[in-house]
Amino acid sequence: KQDLSIGLLGLGTVGTGVVKLIEQHQEELVHQLGCQIKVKKVLIRNVEKDRDVQIDPTSITTNPEDVLNDPDIDVIVEVMGGIDEARQYILEALQNRKHVVTANKDLIALYGPELQEIAWKNQCDLLYEASVGGGIPILRGLTDGLVADRIQKLMGIVNGTTNYILTKMMDEGVSYEEALKTAQELGFAEADPTSDVAGLDAARKMAILARLAFLTDVSLNDVEVEGITNLSSEDLNYGKTLGYTMKLIGMAQCQDERIEVSVQPTFIAKSHPLAAVKDEFNAVYVNGEAIGETMFYGPGAGSLPTATAVVSDVIAAIKNMQLGINGRNLSKPRFKRKLKSLDQ
Ligand code: HSE
Repeated sequence: KQDLSIGLLGLGTVGTGVVKLIEQHQEELVHQLGCQIKVKKVLIRNVEKDRDVQIDPTSITTNPEDVLNDPDIDVIVEVMGGIDEARQYILEALQNRKHVVTANKDLIALYGPELQEIAWKNQCDLLYEASVGGGIPILRGLTDGLVADRIQKLMGIVNGTTNYILTKMMDEGVSYEEALKTAQELGFAEADPTSDVAGLDAARKMAILARLAFLTDVSLNDVEVEGITNLSSEDLNYGKTLGYTMKLIGMAQCQDERIEVSVQPTFIAKSHPLAAVKDEFNAVYVNGEAIGETMFYGPGAGSLPTATAVVSDVIAAIKNMQLGINGRNLSKPRFKRKLKSLDQ
């Protein structure tokens, strides 16, 4: 069987992880697919930037058309981030009937349903496991592992930066500013950390999770958001003395055809499994009618962990190609549920 070629858009933290993982785990990939995966072209913006990865210099380009129009490339992996350019490239890729794997939560939260429609129309896969919870296979958990159940509620710690800040403030008495600075140095805060601390990054991820859990359209505007910027050390310590720990909790609930999605700082009893999720780790706690309770836990960011999610999507798209069933995934909205507050 011929090698399969993929094109990468972006070679930052996640992109370099994808190149390394494909190289280091080639044996596993060949076992899964019966062929090798080659990174044929890589779009980068800045040729001068030092990158911690070995890559064939002839595969590097600054012209997106070299990647998007290469007839040998079947799967485009978008790991460049940002919204407008990434959206334009993904649209072009889908129109060229290439499958798309993306880690771009901002883009999927805003334009996921629109891009998905175009993917279906072109019989292409659009997969985005890495957009929520980094390396945690939560989207597949919801759309595959729990597909036979009816999900009632999700509670997620889906932003590593805020969880890191809250852990350091509560457990070690570190100041908000200092904890944020360390989160930035460790590389999991967004370029502009406002979207982390204001709860927007978590809101984007909760919109994506709620869509897949409840098989309905949820837009970012539907999510009620409050970040962690107004919390004081005094508030946190008071909660601590009462046996609680503070977490930025994303909540999505569905009851009697009503859905509510929110992100807000919440005191959690220390005995709750989510209270044990520390530092930059993420977790999603799921209540389903049949399963009862289950929790997905793991690294919410990082080069190789996030790359595992990206490459698993690449494998899924290639397997679908081999079976001739691309663009038929199970995440089509089935229900038109009204978003209403559960209190109404
Ligand atoms: N800024 C994000 C976080 C990165 O802190 O969780 C992963 O999406």
